[in-house]
Amino acid sequence: MRTGVWLMGARGSVATTSIVGALALRAGLTEPTGCVTELPDLRGPALPAFADLVLGGHDVVVTPLTKRAGALAAARVLPGRLVDALADELADVEAALRPAPTGGTQAERATAVARDLTDFQRRHGLDRVVVVNVTATEPVAAAHPAHHDLAALRAALAGPGAVLPASSLYAYAAFTAGCPYVDFTPSTGARLPALKALADEQGLPYAGHDGKTGETLVKSVLAPMFAMRHLTVRSWSGVNLLGGGDGATLADPAANAAKVDSKQRVLGETLGYVPQGGTRIDFVPELGDFKTAWDLVTFAGFLGTGMRMEFTWHGCDSALAAPLVLDLARLTAAAHAAGRRGPLAELAFFFKDPLDAPTHSLAEQWALLREFVAGLHARAG
Ligand SMILES: NC(=O)c1ccc[n+]([C@@H]2O[C@H](COP(=O)([O-])OP(=O)(O)OC[C@H]3O[C@@H](n4cnc5c(N)ncnc54)[C@H](O)[C@@H]3O)[C@@H](O)[C@H]2O)c1
Repeated sequence: MRTGVWLMGARGSVATTSIVGALALRAGLTEPTGCVTELPDLRGPALPAFADLVLGGHDVVVTPLTKRAGALAAARVLPGRLVDALADELADVEAALRPAPTGGTQAERATAVARDLTDFQRRHGLDRVVVVNVTATEPVAAAHPAHHDLAALRAALAGPGAVLPASSLYAYAAFTAGCPYVDFTPSTGARLPALKALADEQGLPYAGHDGKTGETLVKSVLAPMFAMRHLTVRSWSGVNLLGGGDGATLADPAANAAKVDSKQRVLGETLGYVPQGGTRIDFVPELGDFKTAWDLVTFAGFLGTGMRMEFTWHGCDSALAAPLVLDLARLTAAAHAAGRRGPLAELAFFFKDPLDAPTHSLAEQWALLREFVAGLHARAG
């Protein structure tokens, strides 16, 4: 199953790490550590092989991929030997990248993106192309009446002005071109009724939102533990320190608000109440892609006795995110091949703020994912 993986934000840290990782896996130069689709419980015939993945993408910047990969190697996010060994393969991916369209109406820009996707699919003889959004986090989008109705949206996009944020315009373009869409960011993406209608009309699945790679991953394991032991969480406060492009974006209060919202949701929805405290994200350029999260939890037990726990997470964000990007592309491609349409709630395991998810508990999400993938493999024979 030859599968295109089209990365929106293709020259960013997560995308570059995903590209180098996919090429290294294809060449047998690395192990699939961190790729959950390579666990014995999930591996199987329904998923496209790493060798069947063909990479491309859009970005607003033109920094060469080899330069971005070299910078990530210098920052110890990627092994430099892989970047050197994969120079020819990286040049092939570079040739498949396209500048994000600018100018004209949003309808014209969406048409240009859809045309790039269709050309990519045809040129490489791909069965399908999965579009994955890994662009910089956007501020929460302003509401617009056309977000609720597909016909009104189509008409509004042809007019002057911006009706959709970039993440949603990319989802619109992907659906128009017949491509499933995955949103690894907290941005609006496909979360609009008009876009849901378009995905339905085109018979396409989509997944999101906001990859769960660090502090929230730990929260989604610990919060169910407090709930199951009937302990009362009184406060949960977290401080995240990070640099890199994502850290720089999140220094903007509007983008920061979108991310913080997504990180706290797991607590209210798992515990059934919202404890005191919040999550703070600070930009520290020196830390680059290596993030530190400190969390302090205070809780009460029998007879109201107060207790506390603390944890510290030191993660390399792009190294944690990239294997999940590849997992999501493979799983969404398999779901599309199986005829699934609409939001893929079974992929909640991967997200901080999952679409239509029945649960925020990582263990329950894992059970849901296993069942889903077993069904895909059974169907694929
Ligand atoms: N790394 C993680 O663990 C993690 C976890 C969850 C979510 N995310 C999200 O993934 C996204 C990418 O993170 P990153 O560290 O790679 O950030 P980054 O800043 O390194 O990369 C973002 C890329 O998007 C490009 N871009 C910005 N606006 C664009 C547009 N309109 N069209 C096309 N390209 C555009 C930028 O030029 C840049 O190359 C962020 O939204 C981040 O919040 C990352």
